This record gives sequence, C-alpha cells and structure tokens, in this order.
Amino acid sequence: MEKVPAVGTIAKIPAVGLGTWKASPGEAAEAVKVAIDAGYRHFDCAYLYHNENEIGAGIRHKIKEGVVRREDLFVVSKLWCTYHEPSLVKMACKKSLKALKLDYLDLYLMHWPMGFQAMEDLVIKGLVKDIGVSNFNHEQLERLLNKPDLKFKPITNQIECHPYLTQKNLIRFCKAKDVSVTAYRSLGGSREGTDLLNNPTIRRIANHYNKSCAQILIRFQIQRNLIVIPKSTNPKRIQENIQVFDFELTENHMDEIMSLNRNLRLATFPTTESHKDYPFHIDF
Ligand SMILES: NC(=O)c1ccc[n+]([C@@H]2O[C@H](COP(=O)([O-])OP(=O)(O)OC[C@H]3O[C@@H](n4cnc5c(N)ncnc54)[C@H](OP(=O)(O)O)[C@@H]3O)[C@@H](O)[C@H]2O)c1
Repeated sequence: MEKVPAVGTIAKIPAVGLGTWKASPGEAAEAVKVAIDAGYRHFDCAYLYHNENEIGAGIRHKIKEGVVRREDLFVVSKLWCTYHEPSLVKMACKKSLKALKLDYLDLYLMHWPMGFQAMEDLVIKGLVKDIGVSNFNHEQLERLLNKPDLKFKPITNQIECHPYLTQKNLIRFCKAKDVSVTAYRSLGGSREGTDLLNNPTIRRIANHYNKSCAQILIRFQIQRNLIVIPKSTNPKRIQENIQVFDFELTENHMDEIMSLNRNLRLATFPTTESHKDYPFHIDF
C-alpha cells in the first residue's frame, strides 16, 4: 500500500474528505477503496445521494482487508428535509447507518436549515458522535446557537465555497462562533458547474507550483482553515486531490484567488426557494 500522507484535522474533522454526490452506485464502492488507499479518512455522504449502500461496501471491504479500522474513519451523512419531523429523524439516521453498514456516524448534518432538536437525541443515543448543519446562513446559525435548550453545538456548517463564492462574511461569523466550515463544490462542480478548473489565474498559479488547478483550489481552502470535500470517482483524480500538503500558497497568491470572488452561487436548491427558511435570500 502507498504511504498515507499526513492530513490535518479541524474540529476533529480530517481536512480533506471525499465528496460523493453523483458518485454513481456503479463507481462509489471502488472510489472509496481507492480513496482509503490514497489516505482519505473522511467521507462526505448523504441519504439524498442514493449511494450510501455502495459506499458502505467500499468501507467494509477496506476494514476487512485490515487497511483501516472503523475508528480511523470520519464518516458523515446528512438528514434530508423530508425527514425533519422529529419522529422520522432516528429512522432516517438508522437508514443511513444500515446502508453504510456502520454502528455510528462521526457526524450527522442537517442538510437543509429546518429543525434540530431530534438530531441531538441521536448523540445521546450514541448513533452519531457529533452533529452539524449545512447551508445555514448566519441568522439561522445564530438562532440555533442561541437556543436556550441547545444541548450539542453544531461542529461544522457545510457550505458552498470556492473562489467565485468565497463566503468571507459567513466564514468570519462561523469562526467567531467556533463552528468549523466545510467547503463543498470547491472545484466548481461538474455539469452545472463553472470554468473554475480552467480559470486563467488559477491555471497560472497552478503552473507556478507545478500543481493542477484542482490542487490549487483545494489548497486555497485548507489555507483558509476550512475542511474541503472534493468529489471524484476517478482514481487518478482521487489521489491528486489529497496531494495538497507538500506546498504552500503565498499570501499574494491567496489574495489573488480571493479577488476572483463574484458571489456566484451554484447550488441554489431552486425547488425550496419559496420556503420561509430558504437560506439564500440574505447576503450571508
Ligand atoms: N451540503 C450540501 O448541500 C452539498 C451540496 C453539494 C455538494 N456537497 C458535497 O460536496 C461534495 C463536492 O461538491 P460537488 O460534487 O458538487 O463538486 P466538486 O467537488 O466541486 O466537483 C466535482 C467535479 O469535479 C471533477 N473533478 C474532481 N477532481 C478533479 C480533478 N482533480 N481535476 C478535474 N476535475 C476533477 C469530478 O469529476 P470526476 O468524478 O470524474 O473526477 C466532478 O465532476 C459533493 O460530492 C458532496 O459530497 C454537499
């Protein structure tokens, strides 16, 4: 097996994780196996992605092979909003656990900002180690943190973040509240994505360090102290995306990348736009 690179942790979470949205059931198990061999220990899953069964198969395979132990891994899943009714939360969590073939999750995220209390019970019952949120704006996060009966603080807010949507204000807010930030769509995504991987500034900086554009985009987030979860099912790219701990972007390069911001949000969840808790009607 290849030497596992050292990967830092932020708020208990390994800094680079494997994104799994759009990893088809046919490719997900193999992607997980390749990723574990390449040194990934953090897997970002969700009930909504319809591939937790296969991801679980990949994880189980590597545990059986003796390559990793369960406790070496940081497995995240997410509660989709059709299960926010308190009576459904435990059932939804158990569904994900069963598919992933695990006794517990390291982190369970509320995928979309609606309802939280029933998630806390999962920690008490030992089904999940920690809970977090996703796509929360600062008002929603503040409201949650101010709940007088809050038992467990969310350890992360998983949000869209890349050079075209740098999220300066929301990140500053989360950090001030001691909530880590996990950056999703850090490469600009795929089909509905952007030209981020071909952006001339990113390309020039990549050439300077003899790295790929994807590695620059991932390293950029790590140097902002964010957790980052690039998705790939391609073995070469899975390996490439975690080889980001052997170089450092200068302050000037970081500033240059930050200046690409154009507040361009790619994941807008348009079907929920009219909901009262839709998070993207305010600036951050
Ligand atoms: N909480 C939420 O609401 C939310 C929303 C969106 C995403 N997420 C999570 O965040 C993860 C990442 O976001 P994302 O999947 O939307 O987009 P992303 O990671 O920005 O981009 C993934 C795309 O980039 C390609 N890619 C990966 N590595 C590459 C490389 N080194 N060079 C060139 N292309 C590369 C992938 O193709 P190949 O697979 O062919 O390599 C895929 O098409 C998701 O998978 C999911 O786990 C969460």
